[in-house]
Amino acid sequence: MRFDIVTIFPEFFGALDVSLLGKARQAGVIEVGLHDLRDFTHDRHRTVDDTPYGGGAGMVMKPEPWGEALDSVVREDSVIVVPSPAGHPFTQREARELSTREHLVFACGRYEGIDQRVIDHYADRNEVREISLGDYVLNGGEVAAMAIIEAVGRLVPGVVGNPASLTEESHEDGLLEYPSYTKPALWRERAVPAVLLSGHHGAVAQWRHEQQLERTRRVRPDLLSPDLLSTDGSGEST
Ligand code: ADE
Repeated sequence: MRFDIVTIFPEFFGALDVSLLGKARQAGVIEVGLHDLRDFTHDRHRTVDDTPYGGGAGMVMKPEPWGEALDSVVREDSVIVVPSPAGHPFTQREARELSTREHLVFACGRYEGIDQRVIDHYADRNEVREISLGDYVLNGGEVAAMAIIEAVGRLVPGVVGNPASLTEESHEDGLLEYPSYTKPALWRERAVPAVLLSGHHGAVAQWRHEQQLERTRRVRPDLLSPDLLSTDGSGEST
């Protein structure tokens, strides 16, 4: 899988050299291309923004550099991702879906965003997704793109060593993850729950499922649908 990223801050993406994604890049499992939007300007000041038509606060990113930059990376099979607080909310489901695509192009806007015609132009040719990380505003799309790339990249086969760890985590089954413990069994007078030391796999599975439900009810009741309210760990309704 290949990620191409267009941004005025390529240095934001240095973190893609480290950890699991860094290793996956070295192994050739994923490829990353970084493109400085200012390389596609032609004036002395390398201008990427201008004042908005109709007035208002802030600056808007000019369409011409975006057109040249995206023309240089977009292929027929590319999905273009535009991180934006005005996009639809990003979910694990979408991460999984994007992880099956061959080529993602990230258009990282700054200021008040990118001239809308850029998005409309590419939407006529490619799949364009405006994706929001959450209901808050970042200074630009870079941090959101990093988060999306990490969420998608780790689902690409071969990136995470033990694929089982991908299915047993928050959001994969619609619930938050159960709490985890490791040695020592007693730390600062806090004991690991006895059931986890029992060696009884059925009891452990049931306890973990109950913990998932309890945590999800408490922290994220919006995630719960009636189908998930069984307590036997099977995922079946009772
Ligand atoms: N750019 C600025 N804020 C954002 C957000 N919440 N999600 C995605 N991209 C953004």
